[in-house]
Amino acid sequence: MKVFVTRKIPQAGLEILREHFEIDVFEGDSPISREELVTRASDCDGLLSLLTDTIDSEVMDEIGVKAIANYAVGYDNIDITAATQRKIPVTNTPGVLTDATADLTFALILSISRRIVESDKYLREGRWTGWDPILLLGGDFVGKTLGIIGLGRIGTAVAKRAKGFGMNIIYTDHHKKSIENELSARWVTFEELIVNSDYITIHIPHTTDTHHLIGKEELSKMKSTAYLINTSRGKIINEIELIEALKNRQITGAGLDVFYEEPDFNPELAKLDNVVIVPHIGSASFETRNKMAVMAAENLVEALKGEIPENIVNPEIYD
Ligand code: GLV
Ligand code: GLV
Repeated sequence: MKVFVTRKIPQAGLEILREHFEIDVFEGDSPISREELVTRASDCDGLLSLLTDTIDSEVMDEIGVKAIANYAVGYDNIDITAATQRKIPVTNTPGVLTDATADLTFALILSISRRIVESDKYLREGRWTGWDPILLLGGDFVGKTLGIIGLGRIGTAVAKRAKGFGMNIIYTDHHKKSIENELSARWVTFEELIVNSDYITIHIPHTTDTHHLIGKEELSKMKSTAYLINTSRGKIINEIELIEALKNRQITGAGLDVFYEEPDFNPELAKLDNVVIVPHIGSASFETRNKMAVMAAENLVEALKGEIPENIVNPEIYD
């Protein structure tokens, strides 16, 4: 059997694949084009895809693939309904990137609130004239309210960190989570979370239900002193409306790891000093990316052997 890997991933994953299959790896230094993916993968049984690859029904039919292992926890790049109709197992990489993503979330919370990037720039530009009682003042954490949208694995890991910072934690989710007592977190409605949070952080997948969950209306209800953090998927926020809100100082700031159209992020964002922007690096730690490679490779091996992979996203195909 042969598998196609759409981008160089850490060796540990490639080695596992090599033990079982003939492999072809795209060696380019930017995401593979749709055309090249279809051509290169057309004689392959398995596909190891990245979140940058759009795998829709047309691509599935053209390559006739038997299993897809996504190198990400999110899988909104894959048409799961189409895969399920075709009985193609799809897997993701949950769990192994939880801590790294929660760490990056906190890095953004701290960076935007304490104006780290702005301060660094200020110093490099030679503008510092001496210690100043009112220079570059930012937000506080102890006693402030962190609103977590989605208390899943990553949301929970963020809550644990927030507890250490002495924050008051509220969250919204489809239902109350039993872990809330341990985290001293309180379930609130989405509306209550928007209105009462000093920091809002998003930890849900992008679906048709969560598309543009945060836009003009929600931003106008947020505290003017609040910050919005997003390490999930860009399309959960209406980015144009967020840019307006940041320009008008309707909210104080935002920390963004994900964007509407990656990598072509809106240039208006780069002009604002009240936003910290990083290029989708939530899971970008050495150990995490290694673990993701091993997990995705193992998922693909299991799926192509006809076993139910541990991280199956569409288990109903085995019913
Ligand atoms: C990264 O965004 C992922 O979904 O793994
Ligand atoms: C993803 O891993 C989540 O459940 O937050």
